Amino acid sequence: MSLIDSLSLRYDGKKLMVLDQTQLPQKQVWLEANDPNDLVGHIRELRVRGAPLIGLSAVLCLANLMQTGVSEKEFEIHAGQLRASRPTAVNLMNNLDRLLAVSRSTFVAADILREALAIVKEDEELCLKIAKNGAALFADGDGVLTHCNTGGLATAGVGTALGVIREAWHSGKRLHVYVDETRPLLQGGRLTTWELSALKIPYTLLCDNMAAILMREGRVQQIIVGCDRIARNGDFANKVGTYGLAVLAHHHKIPFYVAGPYTTIDVACASGADIPVEERVASEVRGVKGSFGSVEWAPSAAPVFNPSFDVTPAALVTGWILDFGVFKDAKKMIDALEKGRGV
Ligand code: MRU
Repeated sequence: MSLIDSLSLRYDGKKLMVLDQTQLPQKQVWLEANDPNDLVGHIRELRVRGAPLIGLSAVLCLANLMQTGVSEKEFEIHAGQLRASRPTAVNLMNNLDRLLAVSRSTFVAADILREALAIVKEDEELCLKIAKNGAALFADGDGVLTHCNTGGLATAGVGTALGVIREAWHSGKRLHVYVDETRPLLQGGRLTTWELSALKIPYTLLCDNMAAILMREGRVQQIIVGCDRIARNGDFANKVGTYGLAVLAHHHKIPFYVAGPYTTIDVACASGADIPVEERVASEVRGVKGSFGSVEWAPSAAPVFNPSFDVTPAALVTGWILDFGVFKDAKKMIDALEKGRGV
């Protein structure tokens, strides 16, 4: 029996399978992720990626491990290894903390599994709420620019920023989506295009450095991106290139929205300066590899700058689209979160 069957996650109570996102769109390859060491590898190599999905796969993997009779000490060690697998997206840490709160009060497999499944189910619902909240911001005929991949592949549901686009489209608004290819790992060019094609939503793919021309030509009315960590002051980390888009949006007076679930807010993080930004290997910038092949165009020792994320200051954000509302003011967003959760 299938307990979870999403675009990129499958779980039947015994076996956890993840869709290898590095192989898309050419190949759909499902990989086992029962061993936490394997999942750590999948996350580091971005076979499993996207802030919500990373956190969901981690808790499912740990809950599944409980079925095999793991000790409390081993459980904690694996949780620690998963926590360290990628540093920026806080959903991973938030989801693990939630699971550990259960495992530390009752080290019972059924209880831990119930919690992990509830976290996944909740993500699906959060996506729908984000989509509904955000879709109202779009007008018929809008050109919408997005970056990276924030759809069903990156979540258990319809996605965050891409979920908003999807909902607006299904509500009858004829949008045209402009998809940044998202160098260096091409999440836009490989994954968002794949999802939009399947959804039959019209789109145009562009190289990241072409976004400015589109904006100057008046072809973009809205920009919407996802997030990996939102600080208390509203600064947020997202896929590298997001900050540049926000600066361009400001110059061209185009609304710039960020969409995400409450699980992407880090209430312990005062501002963007406190967000750890992952630096990745030089080979990702010297060339590219995927199921389409592998090529290195730069000298093999070329010095490289490769931050995986950048931080966009709150001052450049038109609105934060969350499951619990759309906010134009970061303080109001944090107040609503803390009141809503009884903090
Ligand atoms: O390095 P990635 O592909 O995991 O980065 C993903 C992003 O930056 C997304 O925009 C973010 O995680 C939100 S996904 C709903």
